[in-house]
Amino acid sequence: MGSKLYRAKVGPPELFDVIGAHQFCVMIRMGLREHHKMLDLGCGCLRGGKFFINYLKPRGYVGIDPDIDLVWEGVRNELTESVFRNKSPILNYWDDFVFAERLGKEFDFVLAQSILTHTGHDLAKSIMQEAFDALKPGGKFVATYFDGVADSNLTGWLGNDIASYTTPFMRKALTDIGFVGVARRGLGHPVGQTWIEATVP
Ligand SMILES: C[S@@+](CC[C@H](N)C(=O)[O-])C[C@H]1O[C@@H](n2cnc3c(N)ncnc32)[C@H](O)[C@@H]1O
Repeated sequence: MGSKLYRAKVGPPELFDVIGAHQFCVMIRMGLREHHKMLDLGCGCLRGGKFFINYLKPRGYVGIDPDIDLVWEGVRNELTESVFRNKSPILNYWDDFVFAERLGKEFDFVLAQSILTHTGHDLAKSIMQEAFDALKPGGKFVATYFDGVADSNLTGWLGNDIASYTTPFMRKALTDIGFVGVARRGLGHPVGQTWIEATVP
């Protein structure tokens, strides 16, 4: 087991384990089961991925993150070799948030944890559309955002900068795309983000 400095790249290192486990608990509560196929958008160093990969059946976990080094720090340090071999997670390194056409409409869940917290409004909406297109009927998009008093007017990927959105903005953006059952969830996120779920009819 090497240095765990990479953990600081996705948030406060002292909360790494809790934020990972929290994601897993939320997804189970949202209906994730072991036979499902899920996409972890911006999977980073598998903070949540380590739990999902262990739980899901082989090839049930798909991660996307352009930071190959970070993803592989996660593979080497957060997974055992046998779990990696037996569960065969599918990892992609695309950097454009375009994934529906590449992966097909085959997901039960798309998770975006701490992603819409770093995206401008245009990119947030385009990620929602991609998620809609990648989900099977009945599939769920589950995401976190910073619930603010106004909507960020920033655009694109913000890197380490943060954007916040009002719940009406999130709700409208999701329903305009065609999602149903849009619901804001508190759920005690360790750093105060808000969860939102939305279902493909
Ligand atoms: C705050 S971290 C969250 C990581 C992970 N979701 C978690 O909760 O541990 C944001 C992640 O988004 C990734 N990212 C940046 N651009 C991306 C892109 N175009 N597509 C997918 N992920 C991206 C970053 O590399 C980083 O790992």
